[in-house]
Parts: sequence; structure tokens; C-alpha cells
Amino acid sequence: MDTIDDLERQIQELEKANRILTKKLERSEKNRIQLEETHERQQRLLYQAIQGLERSLHELQQAQLQLVQSEKMSALGNLVAGVAHEINNPVGFVAGNLCEAQRSFADLCDHLNLYRTQAPASVLEEHAEAIHLDFLLEDLPEILTSMEVGCDRIRNISTSLRAFARADKDYKVPYDIHEGLDNTLLILKYRLRANESRPAIEVMTDYGQLPLIPCFPGQLKQVLMNIIANAIDALDEYSNGLGYEAIEARGNYIKIQTSVIEEQAIIRITDNGKGISEEIKDNIFDYLFTTKEMGKGTGLGLAIAHQIIVEKHGGLLEVNSQLGEGAEFVIRLPLTDC
Ligand SMILES: Nc1ncnc2c1ncn2[C@@H]1O[C@H](COP(=O)(O)OP(=O)(O)O)[C@@H](O)[C@H]1O
Ligand SMILES: [Mg+2]
Repeated sequence: MDTIDDLERQIQELEKANRILTKKLERSEKNRIQLEETHERQQRLLYQAIQGLERSLHELQQAQLQLVQSEKMSALGNLVAGVAHEINNPVGFVAGNLCEAQRSFADLCDHLNLYRTQAPASVLEEHAEAIHLDFLLEDLPEILTSMEVGCDRIRNISTSLRAFARADKDYKVPYDIHEGLDNTLLILKYRLRANESRPAIEVMTDYGQLPLIPCFPGQLKQVLMNIIANAIDALDEYSNGLGYEAIEARGNYIKIQTSVIEEQAIIRITDNGKGISEEIKDNIFDYLFTTKEMGKGTGLGLAIAHQIIVEKHGGLLEVNSQLGEGAEFVIRLPLTDC
């Protein structure tokens, strides 16, 4: 009897254990399904987040591209305005002289025709006086020389422009930095001239003996352009607060010195403009940092210059300045490719 009772109890216990196990199994199956759902949801969220990040990255890249583009446009604006200004002058020169030459030439042709028709000496004499023959014979070669000078200047500008606009190769080439400085100054010349609020800015160059420097010439000229254009801006801003005579007495200048020290080419660009305060000295190389009004400054010039000198050329770009005294930008470039 006892054994049957025992067996029944055991069977009951087994059934109970079985029920518990089945319940546990059901619960764990429910948990598994829940986990799977959570996992899927998390994956969906992660995927959405990644997509969002990719979109933001793309937008950021677009914005950066646009900014760099707008800095390029402002450099290009300088270039175009400079060239238009520079070319206007000699073109006017050639055009004016051309009119004069045409008139003189027509008079000479008339005179020559009188000879050909064997006009009497008195008629020839009279005509010679009417057309100022003596003066004309003296003047015509000068007119032609002037036109030649005008054409040379146009050719010069065109060469500089081409040199300026030449695309860089994807490797460094040996380059005469003085040529880059002269090209840049020529392009910015229209901004150096006197205007209604200040006298002309004097440019003093003190070029040392520099070898050809391995570099990306186009990028380097962009740096020189940014720094010299900033110097002109600083002088313009400084001049705004002073009277014409006061500026004249002080003298606006930009000094450019080059030298070689310890295997480095050094280019110093100094101006006696408004200078830079201690508070912002650490920020001037930051992206988008500008103290200029909207539409005038992009805050990219020095950030790009820094990147080009330090990252692309393994050099250094430093600034020294006293507020109200002026600023000095120093570019150091290695003489050998690194
Ligand atoms: N030669 C300088 N003299 C005084 N301040 C300067 C000079 N060069 C640069 N700065 C300051 O550095 C800032 C950043 O220059 P930059 O990056 O070229 O941008 P942006 O010229 O568009 O303002 C300028 O807004 C100006 O405040
Ligand atoms: Mg600038």
C-alpha cells in the first residue's frame, strides 16, 4: 500500500514540477520574444541615429564647402577688382594714344598724297604747317612708344593673373616666393592707393637671399593674399578714426621682409594698423572668427592660412602685435621638402 501511495505522491510531484517547468518555459519564451522585439527596436533606433548623423555630417561638409567657397570668392573678388583697376589704366592709355596716332597717320597720308600728285612747293609747305608736320614727326614715335609701354603693362598684369590663377600640382614644386609676393602686391595694388579717407599705403620690401622653396605656390599666394589684405583692412580701420593729416604724419605702411634662418625661409609681414588686443590674439586663427562687419569678414582667411602653412607645408605661422601699434605675421617654411 505504502509503495502505491509513494508512487502516486511521486507522480503528483512530477506533474507539479512539469507544470512549473512548462510555465517557466512559457515565461522564458515570452521574455525571448520581448527581447527580440527590444533588440529590433534598438537596431531601428540605431539605424535612424546613424542616418541622422550621416545627414548632419553631409550638411556640415556642405556648409564648410560653402564657407571655403565664399572665402575663395572674396579672394577672387580682390583679384577681379585689382585686375579691372590695373587694366583700365593702360587700356585707357593705349586707346587715347591710338586716337592720336590715327589722326597723325591720316595727316601724314594726306601729306604724302600731295607729294605723289606733285603738288607745288607752296601747297606742300602750307599743308605741312596746317598739320604741324615737324611736331607730328617728333611726336609719332613717342606715341608709339607710349602704346608699347601700355601694352607691356597689360601683358604684365595678364602674366601675373595667369601665375596667380595657375592650379597647383598635387606635389610641391620649387618656387620663388618673391615672385609670389610681387604678384600678390600687384593684385592688391588698387587697395594700396590713396582714397578719400586716407593717403596711399607705403609698401616697403626688404627681400633677402632666398633659394627656391618647395611648396604649393597657389596655396602660398592665397596665404600671402589673406595676410596682406588683412593688413590693409587693419590700416583702413585704424585710419577711419583719425584725420587725413594725422595719418599722413604717422604714415601707413606694410613692410615685407624675407630671410633664411636655420634652414627656414622666414617671411615677415608687418603693418602699423590697429593692432590686435591680447583678448583676441588666441582666437584669430579660429574658423569663423572675425571682428569685421557682416559681409566684410568671413573669419576664414587666417584659419585657412594656418592650415596651409602648418599642415600642408610643415611650417609655422605666428603673430606678434600690440594694440594700436600694428601687427606682424611671421611665416616659417622649411627649405627642404618634409
Ligand atoms: N594685420 C592685422 N591687424 C589687426 N587685426 C588683424 C590683422 N590680421 C587679422 N586680424 C584680426 O584677425 C581676424 C581674423 O582674420 P581672418 O581670419 O582673415 O578673417 P577676416 O579677415 O574675414 O575677419 C580679423 O577679423 C581681425 O580682427
Ligand atoms: Mg581676412
